[in-house]
Amino acid sequence: VRIIVIGTGIVGGSFIKLLSLRTADLIRDFGIRPRLVAVADEYGAAINSQGLDQERLLATIKKKGSVCHDPKFGNPGLTGVEVIRENDAEVVVEATPTNVVNGEPGMSHIRTALTERKNVITSNKGPLALALPALLELAQYNGVHLRFSGTVGGGTPILDFAKRSLLGDQIISVQGILNGTTNYILTQMTDEGLPFDVALKEAQKAGFAEANPSMDIDGYDTAAKIVIIANWILKKRVTLKNVELRGIRNITLKEVKDAASKGKRLKLIASAEGGIQVAPKAIPIDHPLCVSGVLNAVTFTSKYAGEETIVGRGAGGMETASALLRDLLEIKNQLARINI
Ligand SMILES: NC(=O)c1ccc[n+]([C@@H]2O[C@H](COP(=O)([O-])OP(=O)(O)OC[C@H]3O[C@@H](n4cnc5c(N)ncnc54)[C@H](OP(=O)(O)O)[C@@H]3O)[C@@H](O)[C@H]2O)c1
Repeated sequence: VRIIVIGTGIVGGSFIKLLSLRTADLIRDFGIRPRLVAVADEYGAAINSQGLDQERLLATIKKKGSVCHDPKFGNPGLTGVEVIRENDAEVVVEATPTNVVNGEPGMSHIRTALTERKNVITSNKGPLALALPALLELAQYNGVHLRFSGTVGGGTPILDFAKRSLLGDQIISVQGILNGTTNYILTQMTDEGLPFDVALKEAQKAGFAEANPSMDIDGYDTAAKIVIIANWILKKRVTLKNVELRGIRNITLKEVKDAASKGKRLKLIASAEGGIQVAPKAIPIDHPLCVSGVLNAVTFTSKYAGEETIVGRGAGGMETASALLRDLLEIKNQLARINI
């Protein structure tokens, strides 16, 4: 399988590393020989139709900051869109930063790849939150796949659990904690009695929150993920603008303590039932959703199986790379079926 990777940061870099670590068992167990034909970042690309050496790519990124500095295969200044257009590949892996304003640069990468009839795997929730119904249609129109397991729950297979394990049932509603940073902040406020500002600083010091924490604490990250769940699992044609959204920026210690005095914990909960909401909610401590620290948890309520909750870490480079690899194997299976 020929692969183009766009974005070589925490997730894209981990994906390249994972391919390198697992080459032997991918060939042995799955009959798949991944060939990285092009890798691009913000400054340019490295291209070799015969396949780039993963270890060499990782060393170039570490030493020189960009794959475009590879002396033999480097192409400084080449954009992701040009790389996708000008190189043959079955799969494009898109792992550039999330942008919920206009989805760029990921939106152009994904649209170009689908239009060029290349399958897409992405961990980037920005373009999906803004235009998932249209992107799924574009993929279908061009006869290719768009997969995004890593956008919700990092390596925890939240989307796959609902899509496959609950296949045959009818999922009625979904609610969950989809953002580890806000869960960490609310846990610190509850367990350590820290005011919001101090808990946020702690989260930033521990590396769980960005210098600009708005995506997390104002609920956009959670909203993007519930939009993806609503489209993919509940078949609702919705985007970010359909979400009723309230983050945790204004939560006071008093609200946290009031919840605790009633045997509950305040959590940032995303829910999709009638409408789609993101808001702080008090959850009973004995409910399976009531997880602490940076954990994510999602409860699916289905017509026959009742409530099922899946819990796991919601982020991390290698964790998310494992979700990208899962998508790659699924696409490989789909392609093999078509070719039979
Ligand atoms: N980190 C996680 O745990 C995690 C988990 C789940 C999902 N995600 C999502 O996965 C995506 C990647 O996350 P990350 O943590 O790997 O981010 P990151 O470390 O910031 O890496 C982003 C990469 O994208 C590249 N890039 C930026 N602008 C570009 C452009 N115009 N064209 C081509 N490449 C460009 C950057 O290149 P330069 O280095 O040259 O600037 C960098 O290699 C994000 O959408 C994120 O929300 C992350």
